[in-house]
Amino acid sequence: PTVHFTDAEGTVRDVEGNAGDSVMETAVRSGVPGIVAECGGSLSCATCHVFVREDCASQLPPMEDMEDEMLYGTAVDREDNSRLSCQLRLTEELELFVTTPETQV
Ligand code: FES
Repeated sequence: PTVHFTDAEGTVRDVEGNAGDSVMETAVRSGVPGIVAECGGSLSCATCHVFVREDCASQLPPMEDMEDEMLYGTAVDREDNSRLSCQLRLTEELELFVTTPETQV
């Protein structure tokens, strides 16, 4: 699985991940800036906010209520395509394009 991270300045980083890991873990392990993930993936910090490219959304699981609530606490306001990257699991087939917000804190 590959995740393409674009930062707020437009720099793209293509990262090979492992199926079963989250997008957040993949970013942190590869040193992708813009993902803070203060809570380590326990859905309590909202500093792993990403914007998912519209045509990729169908590859992802639907949002749970808790994620939806946490998205109201992000540093950069949520959009329709906002997700918390610790809730997005990589699958073998996944090819995902996300943009990281300007700030997470
Ligand atoms: Fe804290 Fe995702 S890492 S909510």
